[in-house]
Amino acid sequence: MVKTFSFIAVFLLIIDGLRSQQNIIPRPDVLNTVATQFTLTEQTAIVANRAAMSEAQFLASWMFEATGKQFSVIDMASMPQENFILLSASKKSNEVTSESLKSLPDSVRSRVLKADRSKYKLNFSSKSIVINAEFDQGVFYGIQTLRQLFPVEAELQKLKLPYALPGLMIQDGAKFPHRGLLLDCCRHFMSVEFIKKYIDALAYYKMNILHWHLTEDQGWRIQIDKYPLLTEVGAWRIEKDGTKYGGFYTKNQIREIVAYASARHITVIPEIELPGHSSAAIAAYPSLSCTHAPIQVENDWGVFKDIYCAGDEYTFEFLESVLAEVCELFPSAYIHIGGDEAPKFRWEECEKCQKRIKKEHLKNEAELQTYFIERIATFLQSKGKSIIGWDEILEGGIPADAMIQSWRGMAGGEHAAKAGHDVVMSPTSHCYFDYGLSSIDMEKVYNFDPIPASLTKAESMHIRGGECNMWTEHAPQETVDSKVFPRILALAEVLWSYPEQRNYQEFSKRVEQHYPRLKALDIQSGFPKIPVAMVPTPRENTLMVELKPAFEPIFITYALAPPGTEPGDKLLPYINPIVIDRPTLLSAQATMTEMRYTEPMMWWFEPHQALNDSLKLSYEPSPYYTGGGSKALVDGRLGSTNFRDGAWQAARGEDMEAVIDLGAATEIQELETRWFMYGNAWIFLPKSVTYYVSDNGSDWKLVGKVESATDEKLPGEFFEPFLLKNIGMKARFVKMIAVNHGPCPDWHDAPGEPSWLFCDEIIVR
Ligand code: ACM
Ligand code: ZN
Repeated sequence: MVKTFSFIAVFLLIIDGLRSQQNIIPRPDVLNTVATQFTLTEQTAIVANRAAMSEAQFLASWMFEATGKQFSVIDMASMPQENFILLSASKKSNEVTSESLKSLPDSVRSRVLKADRSKYKLNFSSKSIVINAEFDQGVFYGIQTLRQLFPVEAELQKLKLPYALPGLMIQDGAKFPHRGLLLDCCRHFMSVEFIKKYIDALAYYKMNILHWHLTEDQGWRIQIDKYPLLTEVGAWRIEKDGTKYGGFYTKNQIREIVAYASARHITVIPEIELPGHSSAAIAAYPSLSCTHAPIQVENDWGVFKDIYCAGDEYTFEFLESVLAEVCELFPSAYIHIGGDEAPKFRWEECEKCQKRIKKEHLKNEAELQTYFIERIATFLQSKGKSIIGWDEILEGGIPADAMIQSWRGMAGGEHAAKAGHDVVMSPTSHCYFDYGLSSIDMEKVYNFDPIPASLTKAESMHIRGGECNMWTEHAPQETVDSKVFPRILALAEVLWSYPEQRNYQEFSKRVEQHYPRLKALDIQSGFPKIPVAMVPTPRENTLMVELKPAFEPIFITYALAPPGTEPGDKLLPYINPIVIDRPTLLSAQATMTEMRYTEPMMWWFEPHQALNDSLKLSYEPSPYYTGGGSKALVDGRLGSTNFRDGAWQAARGEDMEAVIDLGAATEIQELETRWFMYGNAWIFLPKSVTYYVSDNGSDWKLVGKVESATDEKLPGEFFEPFLLKNIGMKARFVKMIAVNHGPCPDWHDAPGEPSWLFCDEIIVR
């Protein structure tokens, strides 16, 4: 009886172990089962050679947390006969420090920087688990794999011993050496504890770069001794409601974070933005700008025109002093210097900047930016550092020795790789985790290929990896987990395993098994995808709206309400398509196993006379904002106050003209178009919208012209109707001409840039 029980118990343990072994994220290169098992007991010893001793301490402390038991850590010289976990490495990687790199010749330096330190082997026998690697970093990754072989109870500090693990043979290593996450701690501040939690999670998924965005228009977050006002003034903004918001990291906190990361083989790359995104620094030291005019630490989102003056030596003295202190804090071989979104307006108007252009024989302001970046790069080189910059730094010629981070699509990175520069890919299309699931769901991230197809094998070696970017304009700390997770698991696998044969279904099953693990790591994960697809079909002058579960077992309830009111609270179970014959707000809640699955979804509709009628446009809608296709302006779906909600159609730098054929002479009482306004995103209301009607589509009769009374400087995101009432005409054709606002005005932060028009619908009543 006792025997049978223990046989079953061991059998169940093995099944349990087999289950977890299939769930490793990122997926190991080679994983084979072997017909043996290793049983972890209280007597199991951790054995390590000198180069792997820190990893042994890490493992011992994790095992203590997992089981509450203290395991002995023994030097390899006195290895026991059996029951041990052996960690061995030939070399310690530490960080490749700027100190150690400084004296090396360029070719050697580059080789050291690029060496792959991630490889490891993990083998089981009945007597031992052996993890060996060339570098201690590989051993560390072997330990992370081992952690994932244990059940989630181990992460919850409830693992009962003895515990039998089924035999495995793993050979593993990273495809890409740069596997990162950007945390924007400027738009919203994150606590030291929170950042450490992220370092733990990154390590668990074998990521190795924390790109720490530390300076911005809305806040300067790093203590600099020589310039105390950077944090006394620059770290604090007055929000629109009058409250004070901010914070910064002291040098001691930064050292603590860097050391914590380093123990987990994560390099912290600080980003000190220049020459743009520098309002907070200029608010602290106004002499840094071209005008020297006092400004506030920004409390709005966007791109702002006061940037560091490129003509004044004071700017370079300042930045070099700041960067010297930054270099002392961060051992990383790279410093990120930003370089994105720097409007050149002030430089065009600045005497000193123009003088610099002449003196240095530069062609224009784009080349002045390259001059700026190159000067900074040269200074950093003297400190043993190389620079990373956003793809805008390509615009005036690529500064020597710069690594490019491609965010405006992949083209910048592709170009840089062809020119022989190293590249980190983080295109908005796949890597912007501040975007919602409707634009980037986990499957999309999983299908991300960081290597552009046009690159040769040699060029593709310049693609060092990728990052997911967590910008926080709309994400205070408590919401960050739900945006980063679970999508980052897909990126971790893309960058580590580079699954050329991708099977999202299989991956997604493994992710399911990680939710309890994430919870154990204190991460409040979000969701992998939008649970409901909304499909509207026009039927005469009504809409049939179908709500399709994107996967099973999703249960949908919904409510209808008039637009402009709160969503209805009487939720009905969704069974059949909903007929919508009047202006309506449809809200839907998905649930899975009785738990809410994402926030409620909302759509606005107005079926009208022109629904699904023939439509001709004078412009090509932006591929980023199609509004849902060629009939978007007569599909009955209205937009929300989020211009990325998929309902808005846009064109840039041109007028929008549309002609509708109603099919037959139709009584028309009202014509309405709706336009988005968000100056910071260069979206303006049209100067005017003029409506015409016609019986034959060629002879047009003016119905009326609507102009907006809204101040073009009005901040915020909203939309406005351009409405004509009491028309009382009968016609078959309707034409609308919306006149573009024209280039962003002089007061704007991007003066002269072509502006956008955003329209969601031409409503014919
Ligand atoms: C960026 O998103 N401006 C790099
Ligand atoms: Zn200037």
